[in-house]
Amino acid sequence: MNTTKPGDELAVELSQISVKYQQLELFSRLDFALPQQQITAVIGESGCGKSTLLKLINGLVAPTSGSIRLFGQAQTQPFNNTTRRGIGYAVQQIGLFPHLNAFENIALLAKLDNWQQTEIEQRVSYLADCMGLTITLLERYPHQLSGGQAQRVGLCRSLMVKPAVLLLDEAFSAVDPITRKEVHDRFLQLHQEEPRAVLLVTHDMREAVKIADKIAVMQEGKIVQHGAVSTVTAQPANDYVARLIKDHI
Ligand SMILES: Nc1ncnc2c1ncn2[C@@H]1O[C@H](COP(=O)(O)OP(=O)(O)OP(=O)(O)O)[C@@H](O)[C@H]1O
Ligand SMILES: [Mg+2]
Repeated sequence: MNTTKPGDELAVELSQISVKYQQLELFSRLDFALPQQQITAVIGESGCGKSTLLKLINGLVAPTSGSIRLFGQAQTQPFNNTTRRGIGYAVQQIGLFPHLNAFENIALLAKLDNWQQTEIEQRVSYLADCMGLTITLLERYPHQLSGGQAQRVGLCRSLMVKPAVLLLDEAFSAVDPITRKEVHDRFLQLHQEEPRAVLLVTHDMREAVKIADKIAVMQEGKIVQHGAVSTVTAQPANDYVARLIKDHI
């Protein structure tokens, strides 16, 4: 994926996107853009379409109409492999390969891309350290990991080949509050070192405020407010956003 097009500031641009699941028209002419090198949090009640938004961006769900541009390039369905490789994706349910240990799960894509072994080891150890995973944990198989540990392995895996876009679907949710705070801090540090476009789905407004530059609030398939964290928290666009902020901060 070309990430260096001059003058092109958007990593992702969804224009007039509609999505239908059988009878359910989830999105109707939705517009959404993700700036490069910034973290955007998506928040909204269960079933409003947050995961579907992420799946549109990585090509797992095809829109019924509308267009998707990544770094200025219009995408056709299905997305090609190079495009998919440029999009890291970590989900709440993790989906690690059971027959590979944590290290092998994290390293898989780099191996497929023929990275040198020393390069792989350096990158895995950098990411594992960032997520607070010890060497002993890296030798374990998924069934030997706790939910929070497995989730952090999934996060490392999504970051392994330095994707230009990172999609996190409740990817910190299984981590206990103290570890989560550390992971947040390390994630922000990593973001300073390797800035990329991040879209983070969360139910936790505090997490959104701490980590994100921007917040998008969704309600029933619509983005009801999208702006800088300070704007959304200071000037909520409707009662729903106001309640979200009041109840969670
Ligand atoms: N493959 C599918 N087929 C039919 N309906 C679907 C499908 N995937 C999602 N939906 C429906 O689309 C709506 C949005 O789902 P989505 O998973 O995007 O919600 P969400 O905002 O991520 O919710 P949650 O916070 O519970 O994860 C829901 O009503 C869901 O039941
Ligand atoms: Mg979801």
